[in-house]
Amino acid sequence: MNQFHSKLNVQDFKTEGKVSAKCSSNIALIKYWGKKDVQIPMNPSLSFTLNNSYTSSELIFKPKNSEEFLVNVYLDNQLNELFVPRIYTFFDRIEEFIPFLRNYEFDIITHNTFPHSSGIASSASGMGALALCLVEMEEKFGTNFTKEEKLKKASFLARLGSGSACRSLYPGLSVWGESEFVEGSSDLYAIPYPYEIHEIFRNFQDTILLIDEGQKKVSSSVGHKLMENHPYAKQRFSSANENLSKIIHAIEKGDLKEFGAIVEHEALSLHAMMFTSFPSFILMKPGTIAVIEKVRDFRAQTSANLYFTLDAGANVHLLYPENEKKLCMDYIENELKPFCAKGKVINDFSF
Ligand code: DP6
Repeated sequence: MNQFHSKLNVQDFKTEGKVSAKCSSNIALIKYWGKKDVQIPMNPSLSFTLNNSYTSSELIFKPKNSEEFLVNVYLDNQLNELFVPRIYTFFDRIEEFIPFLRNYEFDIITHNTFPHSSGIASSASGMGALALCLVEMEEKFGTNFTKEEKLKKASFLARLGSGSACRSLYPGLSVWGESEFVEGSSDLYAIPYPYEIHEIFRNFQDTILLIDEGQKKVSSSVGHKLMENHPYAKQRFSSANENLSKIIHAIEKGDLKEFGAIVEHEALSLHAMMFTSFPSFILMKPGTIAVIEKVRDFRAQTSANLYFTLDAGANVHLLYPENEKKLCMDYIENELKPFCAKGKVINDFSF
């Protein structure tokens, strides 16, 4: 028995009902890329939880007698069978900690505030919201959680659905993965960033440029797997640790230049791992490179604090402080939007 096992009695699961939860997406500053065992990261990661980009889910549960899992997913009111196998894998992994999964038929009614093809990780917010719903259910059935315990369990469960999802349970900065540099950090769940944050990072802006709306050619799970025999894996994991220790200082001091240098190094390292795996793959598009070059030109001309980061895809997240919003947004509007598919951008921020 560990702290995440449930003390509920299976006999009690006869009532029907519903619970609901909201969970935001996040953008990693220090990237998680490579895992072992069951969703254990090879290096610690750090992210900003977004504010406007979130999933809201309702979980309706009706008692049933059959043994198998039974889940129906409705995304934007449409039955969606694509996500169901992933949810069954998730249920398999968490059954040990959530004892009532086979007792119910579940309808998951879910909505994202961002378009599915936007490159914003809907798996992070979606799994986060589902994990929160399940912990809500556990609470409804009689478990007493403090707020902190509830979020910790939801983060622990969400990790088993999608690694990066575990960071989404906390607003602002969040850390996942054991690190000597972060007190209280764990491979099993994320924690709220425990150190001082300079006020320049409050309401930090993230404008997401939708460079490409097509389906990704290689999924994150395949990418993580390719880190297992990657020639530069060891170096990458130690570099992520080093970057984490450096960014903690930059965040405390409000050193935006150092912050930006680390964030961009992380983004390019992530994609460098893709370029150099066997087999290799490239998720950047010509527009991604063009935007990166333009961002660097803009900085050279204006000394603005506009920095880029990338997820496992072609889209670019542009990060900048709130007090440079006008300068950066004008530049994005006039110079960078033309590189976006149908001129689409999403404006978000992190607390
Ligand atoms: C590049 O969390 O999507 O966004 O655990 O297999 O679901 P799984 O992977 P996932 O990987 C995210 C990778 C990343 C970097 C990050 O968010 O840290």
